[in-house]
Amino acid sequence: MSDTRPTAPATAPIFENRDPNAPGFWDERFGRGYMPWDQAGVPASFKTFVERHAPMPVLIPGCGSAYEACWLAEKGWPVRAIDFAPNAVEAARAQLGERAELVEVADFFTYQPPFEPGWIYERAFMCALPPSRRDDYTARMAALLPAGGLLAGFFFIGAMQKDLSEDSSKGPPFCIERAELDALLTPHFELLEDEPVSDSIAVFAGRERWLTWRRRGATRA
Ligand SMILES: C[S@@+](CC[C@H](N)C(=O)[O-])C[C@H]1O[C@@H](n2cnc3c(N)ncnc32)[C@H](O)[C@@H]1O
Repeated sequence: MSDTRPTAPATAPIFENRDPNAPGFWDERFGRGYMPWDQAGVPASFKTFVERHAPMPVLIPGCGSAYEACWLAEKGWPVRAIDFAPNAVEAARAQLGERAELVEVADFFTYQPPFEPGWIYERAFMCALPPSRRDDYTARMAALLPAGGLLAGFFFIGAMQKDLSEDSSKGPPFCIERAELDALLTPHFELLEDEPVSDSIAVFAGRERWLTWRRRGATRA
């Protein structure tokens, strides 16, 4: 695939919206073509994960341009992608073409998918959320996935600055310390796979891993 990635200016432009918890933050950045997180294609680890599994219903929250949804749909996998920023959904619909209805404007924390997901795909979604929403993220993932369901994808891992506040100079992306991630997820999920990533883009390079977590037992969060 040719590199259609939007080129980010050397310094981030000035934006009006500073709260990544609000759709306007992301809408403004998509609207102005400032998406330094955008891989402009389907990551290699995603493809190999798909090759190891039989088709199952996939939910992609915070899908952005949704290259992966397009790729899965072409393979006949049931998939639904959501994003709460209308400009992101517009970009995703352009990728999906005649399958544009597979992406919706929706907030992950209230969205009810039309199927029980077998897999929820994570890429640059947890790290887009203010750290104060991490418990909500975990609870929602645990509520949406049945026992045995998979939460798998790319997690942005690193040492957090001790004075971390949620202003835009520190993130997004907000990395998470590995011990904190494990403490968050292990009450609900068992870690099955933990792999390095070979084709990270600049913003995530050296700090993302492919992790596959399986929903434990029968209890719902
Ligand atoms: C850093 S971007 C990543 C987009 C995409 N996953 C990718 O890998 O290119 C984060 C995305 O999450 C979306 N988002 C943030 N909070 C959300 C929420 N509560 N519900 C749905 N989407 C959300 C944003 O609008 C944005 O498109």
